[in-house]
Amino acid sequence: MATNITFTIIKPDAIAKGHTGKIIDQIIQAGFTVKAAKLTYLDARTAGGFYDIHRARPFFNDLVSFMTSGPCMPMVLEKENAVADFRILIGATNPKDAAVGTIRNLYADSIDANAIHGSDSDENAAREASYFFSAVEIF
Ligand code: CMP
Repeated sequence: MATNITFTIIKPDAIAKGHTGKIIDQIIQAGFTVKAAKLTYLDARTAGGFYDIHRARPFFNDLVSFMTSGPCMPMVLEKENAVADFRILIGATNPKDAAVGTIRNLYADSIDANAIHGSDSDENAAREASYFFSAVEIF
């Protein structure tokens, strides 16, 4: 059953290039409410734990390196059908395949530096949100 919560991280490339405000505005204009957000630096242990599911993939070390290269912004978002609608808003993982006007089409450079993360299921949205925020922080 679809829930109304998803989880995102505005990644270090997008923050470094000054795209944070435009990306948050695009998210809000698309009907999402920001329930929790923080600017934070991930260490390798935190980034590796978040992406644990990818630990055996060849890109894992590069992914952890990239996610620890600068500040990022984890956020919890609310909207009806949040997970599916947010994945449409951000576009395909590889920006070369991202539909015109999506966040990755507009702001991402490569599959590694792809500007933004979005949960791929309700279960992962709940797990990922609780990795960065306590229940009382999601008001
Ligand atoms: P994200 O949605 O944050 O989930 C895992 C990340 O790994 C993904 O975005 C990409 O930035 C990165 N990545 C690098 N190479 C690949 C790949 N071949 N397939 C999937 N994700 C990849």
